[in-house]
Amino acid sequence: MREIVPISVGAAASGLILREHTRRTRAERLSAATMETLLNTIDANDADTGAHVRRVASYALILGEAAGLDERALHSVERVALFHDIGKLHGALTDIFHESSTLTPEERRAVMTHPLRGAEVLAPLSAFYPELEKGVAAHHERWDGSGYPRCLKGRRIPLEARIVSFADSFDAITHRRRYSHARSFKAAINAISEGKGTQFDPDLADLFLSRPVLARIERAMRRAHSPQKKSANRRRGDKNSAPDVTFRWRPRSLGSQSRDRQP
Ligand SMILES: [Fe+2]
Repeated sequence: MREIVPISVGAAASGLILREHTRRTRAERLSAATMETLLNTIDANDADTGAHVRRVASYALILGEAAGLDERALHSVERVALFHDIGKLHGALTDIFHESSTLTPEERRAVMTHPLRGAEVLAPLSAFYPELEKGVAAHHERWDGSGYPRCLKGRRIPLEARIVSFADSFDAITHRRRYSHARSFKAAINAISEGKGTQFDPDLADLFLSRPVLARIERAMRRAHSPQKKSANRRRGDKNSAPDVTFRWRPRSLGSQSRDRQP
């Protein structure tokens, strides 16, 4: 009997490890599915915003990687980027975003509520992703304290929001919108250079404006504007192009060995 005891203990331990692994895997899948569902909700309500947040996430991840963030921090940046504008879907704002080409002062004030409206929507996820609500609330803050809604200054602005603000501004300049034409890559670089230390974190601005980061951002921008090129890059496994955000978020099917990353 004495020889049997260690075997039974070993089997019980293996069972526990297996059950824990299964539990964790299911929790990761549920988390990824929740994020994917939220992203689908944005797409279903406003496809332009859905495309915008994906481009912003691509650019933000490039800057985050260049800043040396670890995997966990990069996922935080990615989440804030993907959901930074979810507050624009609020019923009180959709008409303004979809119909007004020039904003009245009252409409402008209403638009400025979207970071806090978004943070409110995401508040139930704070227990799991503490950075998400704060990052989304702060994505229009500016380094010099002249942003909104809380006039946060410098490093009081969460890192995720500081990174996303570069990507958001870059995309706002380089992508055509209902009320403005797309401007050139160079115009976007000039705007970011001019905003260093006022709108943008100066250290991150130097990083964004560095040659290797600009090369990756430009490549990601061209890829985002060219769907055929995007899938060709993916097939080639082009490591210098931006990560494919949609691919990252798609939950793994049961038993699959795919290389999807989970949050
Ligand atoms: Fe915004």
